[in-house]
Amino acid sequence: MIKGGRQKAEGRGKKLTQNSKLKTQIFEPKIVGFLCNWCSYAGADKAGTSQVHYPPNVNVIKVMCSGRIDPQFVMKAFERGADGVIILACHPGDCHYKEGNYRALQRYRMLLRLLRQFGIEDERCRFDYVSAGESDKFIKIVTEMVKTVKGLGPLM
Ligand code: FES
Repeated sequence: MIKGGRQKAEGRGKKLTQNSKLKTQIFEPKIVGFLCNWCSYAGADKAGTSQVHYPPNVNVIKVMCSGRIDPQFVMKAFERGADGVIILACHPGDCHYKEGNYRALQRYRMLLRLLRQFGIEDERCRFDYVSAGESDKFIKIVTEMVKTVKGLGPLM
């Protein structure tokens, strides 16, 4: 009787392990991408028209400048189910509003500290620069981010 119960429990344990492995294998991360209109969005647009395949996991939110990205936007994205966030800006010196990308970088550094307090790993939030002509870089960032977040697993 007890032996049979143990076997059943072991069977259930195996099933749970298999289920969690399966979940990890089929886990497709939800990534929110905040992209500056003038450079990064144009880079993403070019990536879209170049017909190069890359993971379709990023939901793009276009902002006029990365300096417009309030850390609360990122927190809200995580709160609403994002597993990762990317913030893409014009290269230093190229911001159409002069200092927006410098401010965005400063906020990003503060944001990482805040995210750590909520137990959210740094790797789930990435800041980078993508210009209008850097569709390859955009694809690389998205591909890397999806791989990284897949490795971390779902946030919730
Ligand atoms: S306009 Fe692109 S970061 Fe400011």
